[in-house]
Amino acid sequence: MDWLIQRLETTGSTNDDAKAAAESGAPAGTVIWALRQESGRGRRGRAWSSPEGNLYCSVLLRPETRNYGHFSFVAALAIGDVVCDLLPKAQAELKWPNDVLVNGKKISGLLLEAGQGYLVIGMGLNVAHFPENPLYPATSLAAENAVSPPLETILNALLENLGHWAETLQKSGFEPVREAWLARARKGEMRVRLPDGEIEGRFSDLDSDGNLHLLLPGGTTRKFAAGDVFF
Ligand code: BTN
Repeated sequence: MDWLIQRLETTGSTNDDAKAAAESGAPAGTVIWALRQESGRGRRGRAWSSPEGNLYCSVLLRPETRNYGHFSFVAALAIGDVVCDLLPKAQAELKWPNDVLVNGKKISGLLLEAGQGYLVIGMGLNVAHFPENPLYPATSLAAENAVSPPLETILNALLENLGHWAETLQKSGFEPVREAWLARARKGEMRVRLPDGEIEGRFSDLDSDGNLHLLLPGGTTRKFAAGDVFF
C-alpha cells in the first residue's frame, strides 16, 4: 500500500478530515496526521483528549470486502506491534474490541467510521500523555519508560504494520488475523457493559464476524457485537 500522508498542525478531528477527503474522492491510502486535535472523538460519542505529543491519525481505505468490522482487529494488531517494539519488556495485550493495553492500562484507541465505498480508521496512541480517564485506567509510552522515536517514525512503523495486516486480511481472509489477535488478547474474567447493565463472564472466543463470546456463570455462552469491556 502506498501511503499519502497529509500532516496538519491542528485540526478538529482527523477522522472528520479523512471522511471529507473520502467524500471528495481521495484515494485509498490517504492518511491525515495531526499534531493536536481540538475535538478529537472517541467511541460511543466520547471525547478523545488530544494534546500535542501523542499520535493522532486517520487512514482512508476503500476495501473490497463489506466486512469492515474485521479492520478493527487489523488496526489493533498494527498498534499492538508498534507498542511491543517500543516496550519489549512490558506486557502488551489486545482487549476486545480494539484497544491495546500495556500492563493492564489503555494506551491507544481506535475509531472506525464507514461511508459509501470507504472506511476511515482513526488511531490515537498515547506517546507523551495520557488522560485522567474515569472509564478506563490509561497510560502512555513515556509513562511506561519507552524511549520513543519522533512521532513521524512511529507513524511510519504503524502504517507499515497496518499495510501488512490489511494485506493478510485481503489475501488470506480473517482467520490468520483472528488467530494473531487471539494470541495477543487479554482473556479471562471480564465484564461487558451495555446500555442496560453489565454482564460478567469468562472470555470464550472471538468468532469469524469479530463477535466476543462470553461464557456466563450458568454455563451458557453469550455473543456480543459491541460493548465496553472491563477486567
Ligand atoms: C476510543 O474511544 O478508544 C477511540 C479513540 C480514537 C481516537 C482517534 S485519534 C485520531 C482519530 N481522530 C479522532 O477524532 N478520533 C480518532
